[in-house]
Amino acid sequence: MLSEIMAAVRETGRLIRQADISKMAIRQKTSKRDLCTACDIEVQAQLFDKLAELMPEAQFIGEEQKNQPMSSGWCFVVDPIDGTSNFAHDFHHSCISVALVKDNTPVIGVVYNPYLDELFYAEKGSGAYLNGMPIHVNRVGLEDSIVGFGTCPYDLEYMQDTFALAQRVFEKSMDIRRTGSGALDLCYVASGRLDMFFELILRPWDYAAGSVIVTEAGGKITTVDDQPVNLRRDCSVVAGCEQAHAEFLKVYSDYKQG
Ligand code: IPD
Ligand code: CA
Ligand code: CA
Repeated sequence: MLSEIMAAVRETGRLIRQADISKMAIRQKTSKRDLCTACDIEVQAQLFDKLAELMPEAQFIGEEQKNQPMSSGWCFVVDPIDGTSNFAHDFHHSCISVALVKDNTPVIGVVYNPYLDELFYAEKGSGAYLNGMPIHVNRVGLEDSIVGFGTCPYDLEYMQDTFALAQRVFEKSMDIRRTGSGALDLCYVASGRLDMFFELILRPWDYAAGSVIVTEAGGKITTVDDQPVNLRRDCSVVAGCEQAHAEFLKVYSDYKQG
């Protein structure tokens, strides 16, 4: 199943790589920051068909459709383009994210950056890989970490906390980064390109695939309150090696206590 999902995702990635954004219809969803392009719709439709062929009994949850709550059993959780504002700006840092979930637990994660032809993937219990090579999180403390973070662009009520925390983390780390794709941020943590990542609210399709990949790469992923991430709802996400993760949670709780 993993290799079939990987093939489907790779093939669909062509739609993103070959897209001409200057000619594309772009719609605003909840705000000017929250975009949906014709390519998001096309990628999702193509994945829907390909994944349904692989596992007809599985539910399909995708960002660009109205979804039913996740039922028990098998379910695909799909972000057709993670990093849509990057895509709409021709920034070339976006990906397709597909998780296969069984009874609310992700068992396969596949994240594909078509611009670099980089395929990150993991199956529960079998390690994490980038284009066939095993990947691992870095074992460093916060002090030596480059920390990626997301700005919760569609939920401005998190803005104050996000930037205050980013400042604190910046003071205690090596540096911070904002790339515009949460799913790739998680894969970058898994592969040691980033040491840590946090965002105060994400949707299941942003982190479902990345969560298996981080865990299989030896990392830890939880909410900022140190609870397991739960695919049935939106939640905060913190990912990194054990040490950096724990040190971030301390920074967060100190911040919260004022
Ligand atoms: C967004 C990206 C972004 C993150 C947002 C996500 P989208 O997903 O992952 O990095 O900050 O919270 O919603 O809308 O590009 O699929
Ligand atoms: Ca997303
Ligand atoms: Ca998306």
